[in-house]
Order: sequence, then structure tokens, then C-alpha cells
Amino acid sequence: MDDLLTISRRKFLIVGAVTAATVALPPFICAEASAANLAQPIQAKLSFVVNGQPQALDVDTRTTLLDALRENLKLAGTKKGCDHGQCGACTVIANGRRVNSCLTLAVMHQGSKITTIEGLGTPDKLHAMQAAFVKHDGYQCGYCTPGQICSAVAMLDEIRQGIPSHASTSLTHPPQLIASEFQERMSGNICRCGAYSNIIEAISEVAEASA
Ligand code: FES
Ligand code: FES
Repeated sequence: MDDLLTISRRKFLIVGAVTAATVALPPFICAEASAANLAQPIQAKLSFVVNGQPQALDVDTRTTLLDALRENLKLAGTKKGCDHGQCGACTVIANGRRVNSCLTLAVMHQGSKITTIEGLGTPDKLHAMQAAFVKHDGYQCGYCTPGQICSAVAMLDEIRQGIPSHASTSLTHPPQLIASEFQERMSGNICRCGAYSNIIEAISEVAEASA
């Protein structure tokens, strides 16, 4: 009896969901969806600059910036964590601002200047933030680290530009280069290894050196 009830409830939910979707979608959207053959990707030309190098791609318009970097350009330093904008592992710098590259379509970056972890420094010549992460042991597994470093670099620029955060004590005075600002502004970059205190130490050192 319980099984019968479970099955009929499941069927009820499926039928209900289909009915709701049909009712909720305006007719023109249904018509467009059926007209577009979803099995046939729509390609688009994309020209942008990645790590100082001009790049031209022909991409499926549904391709995220993250996948364009990793799959098309083979820049695997940028990591895919949640693929839902929740972890920050995919953070790159686009025109000076940090973005979750899993949440933005590649074709939205026509003409953009993108910087990934590969563009910040090299093993022989690390960016100051990369060197500070090494010095302060700001990672364990390292999966979140490229995103943390890109985010930290752009985050310090945000503070220097005077952009306040939720942790800023004043909206009219420039925000300070202090740990509470760093913690708030880096809250979108999750580290499952919990290297947070070392990450803040690394960022603080770079901030002090450049103050
Ligand atoms: Fe983009 Fe997690 S992979 S936010
Ligand atoms: Fe492992 Fe951050 S170092 S998730």
C-alpha cells in the first residue's frame, strides 16, 4: 500500500511539474524553444586577450569563460570547483575585476583582458601574492589557490580604489588595508582545507609591502 501511494505520488508530482511548466511558459518561448534545434550549437567568434596574448576562438555560445579557458585554451590553472558560483575556485581577473568564470559566458568577454593564475607570474618569477602564499603556507591541497590568489590581487586593487565593503567602518573614508577587510572581501573564496589564517597573513604581507 505504501509503495502504491509512493508511486502515485511520484506520478502526480511529475505530471504536476510538466503541467506547471507548460502553463508557466509563454507561448512564444515554447515556439522559440521548439524552433531552435537545441542539438545544434550556435557558434560565435570570440576575440579577447588572455594573459597578454590575443586569442581568437570559435565557441558554442553556451560555453562559460571557465570552460573556454580550460578546454579551448588549455589553461588548466583556473579550477572548476562547484561550477555554480559558490566556491570561488574559478576566479579570474577580467578587465581588472575578479569574476567567477563559471558564471559568465565566454562570448560576454569580447575584447576583454583576462588574467588567470598563469598570467600573474611564472615558477621562476612569482607574482608577489604567489610568493607570499608560498612563504605563509597559504594552501594545503592547492585546489582553491589559483582562485584565491587572483581574487586577492584584484581585491587589494578594489581597496586601493576606495571601494567600501560590508566590513568598512566608513562609506566616506577610504577603506583600510586590514585583516577584517580582507576576510570580508575574500569570503567568496572557499578553502576546504581551512588555510584561511595563512591566506590572510599572505595577503597582509603583500598589502603592507605595497602600502
Ligand atoms: Fe566557479 Fe565554484 S567553480 S564558483
Ligand atoms: Fe585545499 Fe584550499 S588549499 S581547498
